[in-house]
Amino acid sequence: MKFFIDTANVEEIKKAWEAGVIDGVTTNPSLIAKEKQQPLSLLKEICQIVDGPVSAEAVSLNFDDMVKEAYQLSKIHPNIVVKIPMTEDGLKAVKKLSQEGIKTNVTLVFSPLQALLAAKAGATYVSPFVGRLDDISHFGIELVRDIQIIFENYDFETQVIVASIRNPLHVLEAARIGAHIATIPYSVIKQLIKHPLTDIGIERFLKDWEKIKK
Ligand code: E4P
Repeated sequence: MKFFIDTANVEEIKKAWEAGVIDGVTTNPSLIAKEKQQPLSLLKEICQIVDGPVSAEAVSLNFDDMVKEAYQLSKIHPNIVVKIPMTEDGLKAVKKLSQEGIKTNVTLVFSPLQALLAAKAGATYVSPFVGRLDDISHFGIELVRDIQIIFENYDFETQVIVASIRNPLHVLEAARIGAHIATIPYSVIKQLIKHPLTDIGIERFLKDWEKIKK
């Protein structure tokens, strides 16, 4: 299973990359806006830190502009994956871009059939948003389960990025289901590393070690 970090914050990306726990990055317009840096130069900087897929989102909504934006984004670095929203124009853009060898990540997926359409259009990745479904009292992780079944039924090569992760249980469930990738905020990555018994264990070992000295 691969882990991506869901942030545009360079410090968080560096820390997670240096810890050896991430394979790629996903950004979105809200995450980029938080950083107050020119978006293209920020994306370039991210690509220089991480040797893996970096998703950058197109903000245009019509086909022609979306494709133009995709060309501009994909020129930043060979690892750029163009994030395209799940709309009719978006699907058309995904079809064209995939035929041209540009990798795409269809975002804002909230139903299994949206994921099926994205895969049929040739998406490299689909991003089901589990946390936002949980927020409105739906079982977000069930969406991932359905997408996995459908993709396996028809041998789609499209990979599933479990997105909008809010807590470690989302990651655990994604791994149990066998999702290809989870994109995780830095705060949740830190929660995955920590365990109170690990901290207590370290403290006890060090205390006992001190006794030898005395
Ligand atoms: C996915 O690629 C998105 O960037 C992200 O996971 C959205 O998460 P949110 O619902 O926490 O904004």
